[in-house]
Order: sequence, then C-alpha cells, then structure tokens
Amino acid sequence: MAEQQAALTAQTWTHRWTFVLAAAGSAIGLGNLWKFPYITGVNGGGAFVLVYLICIAVIGLPIMMAETALGRHGRHSPIVSMRELARESGVSKWWGAVGWLGALTGFLILSFYSVVAGWAIDYTLQMFSGTFQGMSAAEIGSNFDSMLANPVQLTLWHSIFMLLTGLVIARGVHKGLESGVRVMMPALMALLLVVLIYSATSSGHFMEGLSFLFSFHPEDLSWDAVLAAMGHAFFTLSLGMCAIMAYGAYMPKKASIARTASSVVLLDTAIALMAGMAIFPLVFANGMEPGAGPGLLFVTLTSAFVSLPGGQMIGGLFFLLVVLAALSSAISLVEPTVAWVVERFSIGRAAATVAYCILVWLFGLGTVFSFNEWSGESAQLFGMTFFEFIDYLTANITLPLGGLLIAVFAGWTMKRSHIYKELNIPLGAFNLWRAMCRVVAPICVLTIFYFSTIEEPLMELLGITGK
Ligand code: TRP
Repeated sequence: MAEQQAALTAQTWTHRWTFVLAAAGSAIGLGNLWKFPYITGVNGGGAFVLVYLICIAVIGLPIMMAETALGRHGRHSPIVSMRELARESGVSKWWGAVGWLGALTGFLILSFYSVVAGWAIDYTLQMFSGTFQGMSAAEIGSNFDSMLANPVQLTLWHSIFMLLTGLVIARGVHKGLESGVRVMMPALMALLLVVLIYSATSSGHFMEGLSFLFSFHPEDLSWDAVLAAMGHAFFTLSLGMCAIMAYGAYMPKKASIARTASSVVLLDTAIALMAGMAIFPLVFANGMEPGAGPGLLFVTLTSAFVSLPGGQMIGGLFFLLVVLAALSSAISLVEPTVAWVVERFSIGRAAATVAYCILVWLFGLGTVFSFNEWSGESAQLFGMTFFEFIDYLTANITLPLGGLLIAVFAGWTMKRSHIYKELNIPLGAFNLWRAMCRVVAPICVLTIFYFSTIEEPLMELLGITGK
C-alpha cells in the first residue's frame, strides 16, 4: 500500500502549481520572444496580430484544455495514452498515430529550436563580455550576419544547447524543472519590462511601434498570413504535438484544468505582446525593416542594451533568461518521446535521452547550414531553406493537424461523462468548451488549411491574384 502510494506520488507533480509552471515553461520560449516579433514583422503587423489573438482564444484555449484532460485521463506517455483512450472509447487504435505525429513534430521543431537557442547563448556571452559596447545598430546587424555565416560557431552553440537539454531530460523533468522555472519566469518578465520601459521612454517611436502591432489593416492580410498566425498560436502554446498531454499526465486529479490552462494562455500571450511592444519601437528607432527576419530580436534588443546604463549586465542577463526559457520549452519537445521509449522498451532514461539527442543534433545541422552553406537557391525545398521548410511544415501543418485531431477526439470520440468529470467545470462552460472542440476549432483549422494551401495557390497558378 505504502509502495503504491509512493509510486503514485512519483508520477504526479509534487505541488499543485508545478503543472502551471511546467506548462508555462513549455509555452513561453523562443516562440514568444524571437518568433512572434519576427513573423509579425514579416506578415505586416496589426492584422496578423489580431488573427493570432483570435486563434489563441478560439482554438488555443479549448485545445489546451483538451490536451491536458486527455493526458490526465490517460496517465501514460502520449502515444500509449492515445491508444488506451481509443480503446476505452471503442474506436480504432490508430488514434495512437496522434502521438506518433506529435513525436515526429517535436523532433523536427527541436532540431531548429536548438540552433536558434544557440544564437542566444552566443549573445549572452558577447553581451557579458562587452563586445557590443559602442557599436551602432548597423554594426550590430552585421555582427549578427557574420555569426549566421559561420557554420562552425553555430554548430558549437547548437551542440551546447542540445547537451543542456539532454542533461535536464536525463535527470527527469521534475527535478530539472520545478525550481528553475519558478525563478526564471518572474525574472524574465521583469527584464522584459525594463526593455519595454526603455522603448516607451527613450526610443521616440513607441507610438509607431504600437500602431504597427495593433492597427488593423485587413487589406494586408493574405491567407498565408492567416495560416502563419494560426500556426503560431499552436506553436507558442506548445499545442498539437502532445507536449501538454505528456505534462497533463503528471497533473494531480484535484487541480482545475480550466483554471490552469487559462493562466498559461494568458501568461504566454502577455509575454509575447510585451516582447512585441518592446521590440517594434526599437525597430523604427533604428531605421530597421519590421520584416527583417530572424535576427529582429537579437539586433534590436542588443542595440537598446548598448545605450542603456548598465546595459551590458542587463543585456547579458536577458539573453541568459532567453536561453533558460528556451531550455524549459525544449525539454517539453523531448519529454513525450523519451517517456514513451522508457515506458515501451526496457532501456534507461539516460540511454534513451542520449540516443534521441544525437539524432536531433544531426538533423539540426540542416538548420545550421540553412544560414550559410545551403542558403542559396540550389539547396531550397519548395522555395524555402531547410530551416524555413521545417518551420513551415511543423508550425503551419503538423501542429494544427495534431491539434485538430486532439480537438475531434476530445469533442466527438471520448465519452462525454469521462471528459466532463476530468474538466469538472459548470455545465454551461462545459458545453461551450465542447462546442469549440467539436465544431468551432475544427472548422477554423480546416477553413484556414483550405484557403491557404489549396485555394490561394490554385488562384495564383491560374493567374488570378487578389485576396
Ligand atoms: N511553445 C514554445 C515556444 O513558444 C515551443 C514549444 C515547446 C513547442 N514545446 C512545444 C511548440 C510543443 C509546439 C509544440 O517557444
């Protein structure tokens, strides 16, 4: 009996708050700080942001609740959970494929995520060592470009980040996460606030930045941008690949799924918007292009830190927190797969982690080369570099597809009474949530898929332009 009890507690988070911390740690990462500002810039600003926010509310929150509930009900690694849940609901065990799709997606995302996190390691060290002092924004920009041009340097940082990820995973998510995230999140918010205040008071372009982010010009909006906004909603909330499902499996029965999911969604969105509001005024102040691409975060913030008193320290600390935020996200990309391997085969956690990390590391070299050796047209896939292709495939296709299947499973396939008990919310709220999963979210995802991948390219092919 005592043994059973011990086994049970080992499987759940030790504290009620830990799920929120773990899920927030997963959600908040490069997606908020690096990707959101850069793709907002590329996609023209306000209209993109509005679609992203709508997707967060209409698709993201219900699916976040669904994933958590499936995870907690299943209580295994996602691949096994999905299969078990399918059996319980009397449908094909092929639903386990959702777990497989998630594992593949996590692998692909981590391969480029690690490379970008590596840039942040580079910037942490450069910041602390004072390399940027006295540099103009243009010089900081070319410093960034020369980092990208150097595959050896990128590979070094990529390797170090993969190593860190592997270490945390091998130790077990609980020990690695609980204390880290609790300190990191508030610190990250505080430093982001410092940059935001600097942007508001010293950049001289704060209103311009805000208006870029929040003024809605529907004529700027292509279906491609709508797809990117929806894809990013999945990416930033870590949805659609069973990461949240894996964490949900460790969630105590008593904790409220609705409340925790809402906290995570709000926190994640707040951080992304703060990052955007800090960055765009600096973009305009430095005469940069909003659509400058993946370097946006690094170049703008570095130029702000350089002119801030004590900026060398604050900047170093900021990039260090970016690395840590990336780390707490990265482990959630690995966890579902490693949990499955350990559950399924009789090999240890450490061995599974090492093998997995080596494979991701190798694949990540494709992203490393995308910025130098393979940046030319001859190495492109569908008009994209390797990195762009992997990013597009995961964020815009496999994550929304996984999310769609999870919503359909939770809304249509699972027994109503089971999921009702799991969510444990008032009946009205439950019915609303269920309608979102059954109808609203699937229709949104399918419509956006249809127009962006079928209708729009078809029109272009036929020479009919117009949106
Ligand atoms: N959400 C993280 C970010 O914004 C990235 C991430 C971690 C992720 N785990 C995920 C994305 C699972 C999709 C699925 O940086």
